[in-house]
Amino acid sequence: MIEARGITRTYQTHGQFTGTRTVHALRGVDFTLPEGGAVSFIGESGCGKTTLGKILTGLETFDGGELVVDGVELSALKPRQRAKYFRRIQMIHQDPYSALNPTRTIEATLGDPLRMRAREKGGTGAGPGAWRERACELLTLVGLEPEAVLPKYPHQLSGGQRQRVVIARALTVDPQVLIADEAVSMIDVSMRLGILGLLRDLRSRLGISLVFITHDVATARYVGDGGELHVIYRGEVVERGLTDDVILSPVHPYTQCLLSAVPIMRGLEEPGPDRTAPTRALDERTDTPGCLFEPRCPFATDECFTTHPTLVPLGGDGAGVGAGEAEGVGAAEHQHACLNPAARRVVGVEVGAGAAGP
Ligand SMILES: Nc1ncnc2c1ncn2[C@@H]1O[C@H](COP(=O)(O)OP(=O)(O)OP(=O)(O)O)[C@@H](O)[C@H]1O
Ligand code: SF4
Ligand SMILES: [Mg+2]
Repeated sequence: MIEARGITRTYQTHGQFTGTRTVHALRGVDFTLPEGGAVSFIGESGCGKTTLGKILTGLETFDGGELVVDGVELSALKPRQRAKYFRRIQMIHQDPYSALNPTRTIEATLGDPLRMRAREKGGTGAGPGAWRERACELLTLVGLEPEAVLPKYPHQLSGGQRQRVVIARALTVDPQVLIADEAVSMIDVSMRLGILGLLRDLRSRLGISLVFITHDVATARYVGDGGELHVIYRGEVVERGLTDDVILSPVHPYTQCLLSAVPIMRGLEEPGPDRTAPTRALDERTDTPGCLFEPRCPFATDECFTTHPTLVPLGGDGAGVGAGEAEGVGAAEHQHACLNPAARRVVGVEVGAGAAGP
């Protein structure tokens, strides 16, 4: 239902001391999100995750590539027509504290979009009884007690409750896709699992597709179960495939770095004694004709300085293989962009299938 082809976004920044700089926030990102499916994007701070989420919801423009929603290429449309498609894609932001208007009760927050939606549908749902009933339905769906929550203001709710209200508000317009951008990173740890479980639940119960943006491998595995995982480095996807394939059999040294930064959880990952580690601090200004990860890569060879690796299927290049060696072809094929894939150091081991959790 969403197809992104070669999405590119570049910013020009002007600083008094740094002069004009070009920031490549996204460099040719491709993915397909099927109906009811999930695609997760993982990467460190500044790699372009939020920029991608904003582009997918129409909050940000892109300067290269194509975005196709329900078979329609959006850049060919006028802004008003485009808005209709973007309404089907709702974003849940990182910060539930600033996402809600502090001066409005939850009833008012949900009431406006519900009345608008009812008018659009042309039914009788715009009447006070009908939209209030729908508000109660949505609050119950996201695990809140409607009568207790509706009269409250955001500051009277906990972070987890606010994020649930934000999700309920996103559901008021009957979206087909939710983009969850670090949706639990600002919430108390004790409430994270509940929100992640809710996102998983919405996928299975309502058939909503999910784009899950995170820097945390374990949550990507929990929520994006059965979907694809794309690893982004400096705006470029350097490894992708089915979530379990990438996590259990990481090929790109950057993916291995991300995995080695994860504490060993329920036997999910086992970093070897010679785990990969960044060798130099990231300097975004260094642009190279070779591999973007080369300044930090312990396995770089001469070729890495001059040749820019592109995504290739795992196995067709002598790469090490593991539990998730891709068998099929197509969107979920395990691919990586590394010239020396056999130099793996972090080994994924599976101890008890399905034991992963955040
Ligand atoms: N409006 C903007 N103007 C200039 N540069 C921008 C703008 N928005 C994003 N960037 C730059 O684009 C890059 C990607 O930013 P983005 O916010 O998408 O990263 P992110 O992966 O979401 O990071 P984080 O994990 O910290 O949220 C960064 O280098 C950022 O500084
Ligand atoms: S292509 Fe070379 S520099 Fe880039 S990740 Fe692979 S080994 Fe490292
Ligand atoms: Mg972000």
